[in-house]
Amino acid sequence: MDMGLNGKCAFVAASSKGLGKACAIELAREGTNVMLSGRNEAELQKVKQEIQEIAAGKIDYVVCDISKSENIKQAIQTTVNKFGTIDILINNAGGPPTGSIDKLTDEDWYNAFDLNLLSYVRFIREVVPYMKEQKSGRIINLASSSVKQPIPGLLLSNTFRTGIVGLAKTLSIELAPFNILVNTVSPGRVATDRIHELDAIKAKQLGVSIEQVREDSEKTIPLGRYGKVEEFGKVVAFLASSASSYITGSSMLIDGGMVKSL
Ligand SMILES: NC(=O)c1ccc[n+]([C@@H]2O[C@H](COP(=O)([O-])OP(=O)(O)OC[C@H]3O[C@@H](n4cnc5c(N)ncnc54)[C@H](OP(=O)(O)O)[C@@H]3O)[C@@H](O)[C@H]2O)c1
Repeated sequence: MDMGLNGKCAFVAASSKGLGKACAIELAREGTNVMLSGRNEAELQKVKQEIQEIAAGKIDYVVCDISKSENIKQAIQTTVNKFGTIDILINNAGGPPTGSIDKLTDEDWYNAFDLNLLSYVRFIREVVPYMKEQKSGRIINLASSSVKQPIPGLLLSNTFRTGIVGLAKTLSIELAPFNILVNTVSPGRVATDRIHELDAIKAKQLGVSIEQVREDSEKTIPLGRYGKVEEFGKVVAFLASSASSYITGSSMLIDGGMVKSL
C-alpha cells in the first residue's frame, strides 16, 4: 500500500525514546522528513543517527522542553526553516508523576497541565496556519487507555488525557474544512521505560518483584503481553498517511484488548 508519506514533513514531540521515537522510526521508514525533539541533546543525536540508517528522508532534531511556550514556538519555526512546512504533527509528552489527591500540590497540577495538555494546544496552534494554507494536515495526539478507564494511582494522567480527547474531537470538527485530520491514539501497556518505571513503583508498593507486576498485568490483557513500540508506531504512521483520509475525530486504543469498555 502506498502510504503517501514520502517527502512529507513531520514534527514528533518527545521522541528521544519510547513511543515518540517509535512513531519517528515508522514515519522515517516511509520516507517522511522527521524532526525529533526532547530535552536531552546527546540522546537525540544518538536517535538521529540510528534513524538515519533506515530513513529515506531527512532526519534532524531540535532540543525542546515542551512545557515551555517559547521552546515550542522555536521548535516549529526551526522545523519549517529546515523542511519548508509541516504536514504531520505527532503530539506526545513525558508521563506526569503518580500521586493521590492528598499528596499532589497545585504546582504538580500546573506542571502536568503544562506538560500533558497545554503543550498539545500550543503545538497545534503553531502548526495549524501552515496546514490551513496547504489545505491538508494530520494531527495525532498520544494519550492513554485512561481516556476510557482511569488507571489507579495516576490521577494527573487520568485527568489531563481526557482533555486531549475533548480537544482533538472539537478541533477535528473545526479543522475538517481545511482537510486537517485530528485523531487520538491511546496506548494500554506498550513496553517502554515509562511502563517499566510504573511497574517498579507498583512493585515497591506491593513488596513484590517487577517481573511479578508485569506478569499480573499481562494476565489482564487479552493478547497476553505488553505491546511492542513498533506495533504502536505503525498505527500512528497509518493515521499520518494518505491511507487514513476518511478518519478524523477518532480516539483509538492500542492496548491488546486491555480496556473492557465497549
Ligand atoms: N508506554 C505506554 O504503554 C503508555 C501507556 C499510557 C500512556 N503513556 C504515555 O505516553 C507518553 C509517552 O510514553 P513513553 O512510554 O514513550 O514514555 P518514555 O519512554 O518515558 O518517553 C518519554 C519521552 O518524553 C520526553 N520528554 C519528557 N518530558 C519532556 C519535556 N518536558 N519536553 C520534551 N520532551 C520530554 C522524553 O525525553 P527527554 O527526557 O530527553 O526530554 C522521552 O523522549 C507518556 O506521556 C506516557 O505516560 C504511555
